[in-house]
Amino acid sequence: MQEKILEALRKKQDYVSGDQISSRLGVSRQALWKHIQELRDNGYDIVAVPHLGYRLESAPDRLFEFEVLRGLNTQILGKKIIYFDSVSSTMDAAGQLGLKGAVDGTLVLTESQTKGRGRMGRNWFSPKYKGLYFSLILRPKVLPNSASILTILAGVSIVEAIKEFTGISCEIKWPNDIFIHHKKIGGILTELNAEMDKVNFVVIGIGLNVNNGKLALISGATSLKEQKKEELNRVGLLQEILRRMEYNYLAWQQKGVKGVLEKWREYSLTLGKRVKVYCQREHIEGEAVNIDIDGGLLIRKDSGVIKKVMAGDVVHAR
Ligand code: BTN
Repeated sequence: MQEKILEALRKKQDYVSGDQISSRLGVSRQALWKHIQELRDNGYDIVAVPHLGYRLESAPDRLFEFEVLRGLNTQILGKKIIYFDSVSSTMDAAGQLGLKGAVDGTLVLTESQTKGRGRMGRNWFSPKYKGLYFSLILRPKVLPNSASILTILAGVSIVEAIKEFTGISCEIKWPNDIFIHHKKIGGILTELNAEMDKVNFVVIGIGLNVNNGKLALISGATSLKEQKKEELNRVGLLQEILRRMEYNYLAWQQKGVKGVLEKWREYSLTLGKRVKVYCQREHIEGEAVNIDIDGGLLIRKDSGVIKKVMAGDVVHAR
């Protein structure tokens, strides 16, 4: 009902009489007043003037399901949304929903996380209403070893969406860190639920620093607000990411991996650099020369031997 009331107020951008809304939506004046109060509690600034009615002055920057769905023109991604004001981690919530059969493209979205997770067991700082923290449940019809490309695909889609939405050019540090001017702005965490020859589902978790001020950032990190010197509309940015990801997701399934790898090479901060990659028990040093079709990083060691790494922490030497 809140969604319908907002629709009526947004349509006119002026006062709309209470009688008109009540009769159009089939609710009593009293019930309408209650819904208006709830909307106000959620941060919508609605003015009420006797004999004129209600007018929407401003809407809050919240990721409510109906706000994200409004104007989202995707076919799969985000068509089903699970929204939390706060949650431990959208990865855990999405993992449970995946096991219960959530549909391809289900979006698990939150305003803050109490136990946000990063790669390699790190924490992901998730201050309320500042960033974008979400996980997508995907069910690609591919073999498990092809699914790792989804991390690469997500990184490319985020860079494209940020460019389109803000004009800012970001870079990707292998495998999945999004950087602006050598500071981290976002990261991607991918978790796979699969059998030997079949992917059940993949959860792709994305964390982005959007409206974080200096105090809501860890050291070495930046936010879009810091870079752009203005607050951004998180719903609009999220919608653009979903659109880009869906385009790249469908292109990958229909035409293969070539297109996404080409884009990744273009946005890469790592290729051509001398790197040290810290893997579980060893580290590999050399020049990052290419990305493989499974998303692995190819490193030419000083001996000339090419080594592939699938996971690890990269340090750029120059
Ligand atoms: C990284 O750079 O280490 C990956 C960070 C991924 C963070 C996101 S925020 C939404 C989702 N939920 C989590 O707990 N983690 C991911």
